[in-house]
Amino acid sequence: MQAIVWTQYGSPDVLKLREVPKPAPKSNEILIKIHATTATTGDCEMRNLRFPYWIRLPMRLYLGLRKPTRVTIPGTYLAGEVEAIGADVSRFSVGDQVFGTTLFGFGTYAEYVCVPEKGAIAPKPAAVSYEAAAPVGLGGLEALHFLTIANIQSGEKVLINGAGGSIGTYGIQIAKHFGAEVTAVDSGEKLKKLRQIGADGVIDYTQQDFSQNGQHYDVIFDIIGKSPFSASVRSLNPNGRYLIANPTGLIQVVRGKLVSRNSDRKVLFEMTSPKAKDLAFLAELMEAGKLHTVIDRCYPLAQIADAHRYVETGQKVGNVIITTSPHADAQDKADASLE
Ligand SMILES: NC(=O)c1ccc[n+]([C@@H]2O[C@H](COP(=O)([O-])OP(=O)(O)OC[C@H]3O[C@@H](n4cnc5c(N)ncnc54)[C@H](OP(=O)(O)O)[C@@H]3O)[C@@H](O)[C@H]2O)c1
Repeated sequence: MQAIVWTQYGSPDVLKLREVPKPAPKSNEILIKIHATTATTGDCEMRNLRFPYWIRLPMRLYLGLRKPTRVTIPGTYLAGEVEAIGADVSRFSVGDQVFGTTLFGFGTYAEYVCVPEKGAIAPKPAAVSYEAAAPVGLGGLEALHFLTIANIQSGEKVLINGAGGSIGTYGIQIAKHFGAEVTAVDSGEKLKKLRQIGADGVIDYTQQDFSQNGQHYDVIFDIIGKSPFSASVRSLNPNGRYLIANPTGLIQVVRGKLVSRNSDRKVLFEMTSPKAKDLAFLAELMEAGKLHTVIDRCYPLAQIADAHRYVETGQKVGNVIITTSPHADAQDKADASLE
């Protein structure tokens, strides 16, 4: 099969298209023919190990100290069709359309991947395209996880910082589904799309610091770890929750624990633990037309380096999709679903 193999840490050019053996499922695994995956900011950070210092060493220990040796095919999120099942598999059958994530096994920049049937994989609604389903295992699950632990009540004011990316564009829609009034923070042209998918208000972070404008929120969801800590806590209403999806340093975690212990505000970090039942919930929302995937661009697998270069411009809104079998109308499907 064709796959993108990752030979070194570095620029997008380290990603090479190669012919590699097609995997065979173990007794508890399903073999998925991948139709779509996604190139994410996280993939780019992983490719060149651009992480905060306290994450870099554990990542090297996991992936390989000098070059990636333990996991050689990147890519974590997928939508595809079950092509074969192991002897003990009962949740899935050959021909099922599925979507989800391979977690730390990676391997979705490829035509096929094997995943345990009990992994974070769920049936894909037939009406949702592979391209629209592939990024849900990232942005949909991350957003659902944090907005669920925030226990959002109808009518609460939620601010989402870094709202124009994968997690944020799902986050806006999920927060609206929970009944929140949503303010989305990002920049430039992206803000139009964020209003289109449901944001009640938008703030351009290049023009205005949300934590200095006198507004208060019940929930601040900081996806990129860039909101100023003290000012964000001060921008919370009583009993407010400050969700930090990507703490940039251990000091934030320590300060968060102190705020949570000594005030009526809560600072919440928690790693997401992707689950099939959460994917099933998101699938229901998609099927009901309440959750859409914002697709910026689609690239074929062979052009993965170009896709990474585009993601690294910071211009993408929503998601960049990688197709392993070309669906020429993917962009149309995505745009149509937002009308
Ligand atoms: N913890 C985990 O397991 C996990 C899982 C998935 C993702 N992540 C991480 O979560 C982060 C977000 O993921 P994503 O896929 O949603 O990223 P993304 O698609 O790149 O979206 C991030 C958005 O934040 C905006 N932004 C950048 N600086 C900002 C600022 N100072 N204020 C407000 N907005 C700002 C970016 O716009 P501009 O670039 O135009 O500024 C972009 O639209 C990534 O760093 C990713 O690695 C972590």
